[in-house]
Amino acid sequence: GKDKELIRNSWESLGKNKVPHGIVMFTRLFELDPGLFNLFRYKTNCNSTQDCLSSPEFLDHVTKVMLVIDAAVSHLDDLHSLEDFLLNLGRKHQAVGVKTQSFSVVGESLLYMLQCSLGQAYTAPLRQAWLNMYGIVVAAMSSGWVK
Ligand code: HEM
Repeated sequence: GKDKELIRNSWESLGKNKVPHGIVMFTRLFELDPGLFNLFRYKTNCNSTQDCLSSPEFLDHVTKVMLVIDAAVSHLDDLHSLEDFLLNLGRKHQAVGVKTQSFSVVGESLLYMLQCSLGQAYTAPLRQAWLNMYGIVVAAMSSGWVK
């Protein structure tokens, strides 16, 4: 319905520039929770967040995140088909030390990126539509956490 239309339309141009938008999102994420930075144990020598944000391994992860969002947007009609993939993805994140609670700050960063890029088009219904979709993705990832 309306939600899917809002998401698809807003992703149309964003999805064509995944890396720059992903960098905005992760820059915001590390501002909100600098501790998350330590979970990325790449063999790069980073003197600053800015160094790390431009390291190839890190940009790979940014790209991976954006591709998962892209997959969710293109599967809005059958998000459940991504459940197994997302459960396994959640499991991998538990293994690298991510906590499920961190997904709320990731969500905030996603909204921040949308707000920055969409400007006037960032409306309350659009924000809610994205939150709903993100909530489904996070729930599926969180189901991969083993107690
Ligand atoms: C892999 C950290 C959020 C998608 C990884 C890896 C780390 C990591 C350390 C392994 C190394 C690598 O592949 O670069 C984090 C942290 C996050 C976060 C700290 C935020 C708290 C997300 C989110 C998504 C995502 C929100 C997608 C919705 C992926 C994918 C992989 C990955 C697709 C590759 C998994 C594979 O190897 O099969 N993440 N991640 N990550 N992450 Fe994240």
